[in-house]
Amino acid sequence: MCGIVGYIGREAAAPILLDGLQRLEYRGYDSAGIAVHSEQNGLQIVKTKGRLQALVDIVSTGKPLTGTMGIGHTRWATHGEPSDENSHPHVSEDGRIAVVHNGIIENYIQIKEFLQGKGVQFRSQTDTEVIAHLLEYYYDGDILQAVASVLHIIEGSYALGIICAEESSRLIAARKDSPLILGYSEKGSFLASDVTAIIRHTRDVSYMEDGEIAVLDENGIRVFNTMLESVEKEHSFVDWEVSAAEKGGYEHFMFKEIMEQPEAIRKTAFSRIVDGRIVFEGLHLNEEFIQSLKKIHIIACGSSYHVGMVGKCNLERLLRIPVEVSLASEFRYAEPILDQDDLVIVISQSGETLDTMAAMREASRLGARTLAIVNVVGSSIAKQAHDVLYTWAGPEIAVATTKAYSTQLVLLNMLGIYFADVRGSLAPAEYDRLIRELLELPAKMEQLLEKNGDIQYYASRYFNHESVFFIGRNLDYALSLEGSLKLKEISYIHSEAYAAGELKHGTISLIVPGTLVVAVGTYGKLFDKAMSNVIEVKARGADVLALTTEDRAPEMAKYVDAVLTVPSADDLFLPNLGVVPLQLFAYYVALHRGCDIDKPRNLAKSVTVE
Ligand code: AGP
Repeated sequence: MCGIVGYIGREAAAPILLDGLQRLEYRGYDSAGIAVHSEQNGLQIVKTKGRLQALVDIVSTGKPLTGTMGIGHTRWATHGEPSDENSHPHVSEDGRIAVVHNGIIENYIQIKEFLQGKGVQFRSQTDTEVIAHLLEYYYDGDILQAVASVLHIIEGSYALGIICAEESSRLIAARKDSPLILGYSEKGSFLASDVTAIIRHTRDVSYMEDGEIAVLDENGIRVFNTMLESVEKEHSFVDWEVSAAEKGGYEHFMFKEIMEQPEAIRKTAFSRIVDGRIVFEGLHLNEEFIQSLKKIHIIACGSSYHVGMVGKCNLERLLRIPVEVSLASEFRYAEPILDQDDLVIVISQSGETLDTMAAMREASRLGARTLAIVNVVGSSIAKQAHDVLYTWAGPEIAVATTKAYSTQLVLLNMLGIYFADVRGSLAPAEYDRLIRELLELPAKMEQLLEKNGDIQYYASRYFNHESVFFIGRNLDYALSLEGSLKLKEISYIHSEAYAAGELKHGTISLIVPGTLVVAVGTYGKLFDKAMSNVIEVKARGADVLALTTEDRAPEMAKYVDAVLTVPSADDLFLPNLGVVPLQLFAYYVALHRGCDIDKPRNLAKSVTVE
């Protein structure tokens, strides 16, 4: 979703802002803009609908943007269509104050009516514009004081970057429920929605908390609470390489990230296996709680929810207690029934998904213990959960998640094995066998990634279908959900995933000669049942591309049009293998269709609105 970058220092601000915005492009956006201030030219604003390149073109052909203080923004439209007027920065009527904002001001209509009553003319349809005008209303020569006053009035979520023409030595930032990172450097001070925007300049960062206001100047950053009392910030060192957030010779981030999966799993899993035993350093859950656990709830959105669907199958098998999986956007309004003996596991790559965060807060309010599986260090969900386990997948830039999904799966399985051991529901020999299987997983994935020629061929054969059905049972159904989402989000082909046994209760009426069905049949226990469903769709003329394990491929090949295979593995780890061909299939299909793979239309990497 929207991205913010800000800079104040000794260098020209415009190139730093444009570079930062380019690195935030992956978050998803539909317009962009920057505001730069200089003593000679005052506040200069350039903003436009469309891709960042359009903004760069305007900046490079127009009057040079001078100045060493500025703010930039990529907007993902919520209130008001994507347009030049609705793009950020928004400016006060007197042109002195510029604002960039991520989030939603929920009471903007009341504020707008109040300001209109005072004669203020609005130029955009956004909720953000009220902030610029309110700041002007309260401005009395001290922008920090004006920001503090405005924060007492606005409701909702915000990450804000604010500059004022009359106070050229400071840039103000504020946050509530939308991430903001402060960067410290010899060159000056930085502000960004995420680390990728500023890592080329500094690795010395701190994460703003809700209710904090930061004052950035060229020599450093001071942070205050809303009462303007000083707050001490802990600094963090970003330890990943700049190259981790660059394409490194690959055409797309998505492909690079697919290829990085074995290594991401090694990092996430292997460092947590010590002398053949799983060790979760820093986990506060005690053995007594794990032993008395009655129920697990998994809450997430999108692909992270699909991880939860796999998790339900695997954790119930390992622990023999009920596991309920909920979409975060549904959970919080469903009057959830939770107990103190329940564990709520929330899964989120970004750690900023608003629905997931709100569901987690609700679970916590109802007395449940929360454990978050998160990829982005220092993110809001990571900070607010009672416990956090990080996936160490490295930065994931492509909107379509791949390596985060895989590492989430592995971590959830490890949690299941660990809990089962503590609860005594897993025999020691079985524990050792599963650890051995886990250790073999990255090498098996590497084998799969090496032989992707077949997948490229099938993508070229099927890319012009306009509707696809993924079918599978149990673990394979959970995997089908992810395969189907990957395909639709990047190739724009209509695709649905069905529990294979459910087809004949309605959906089979859509199967006509030539319909593409991707039949996922990796789960040995239900292979025969899956085959019956394959035969049903074949009988209606479907073109069936099957995915199964190498040992079952000959049987599957008798009935279908094409077979993709994965090496055999314990059921627990099959989805980790099965997802690889499905990711690659989606990737190559989207490539054939000429889609913008890393930045699919309408989508955002981190969904920070409801
Ligand atoms: C997956 O490819 C999607 N981009 C999306 O479904 C994503 O998984 C979802 O928005 C949840 O994001 P999170 O893991 O950051 O919470």
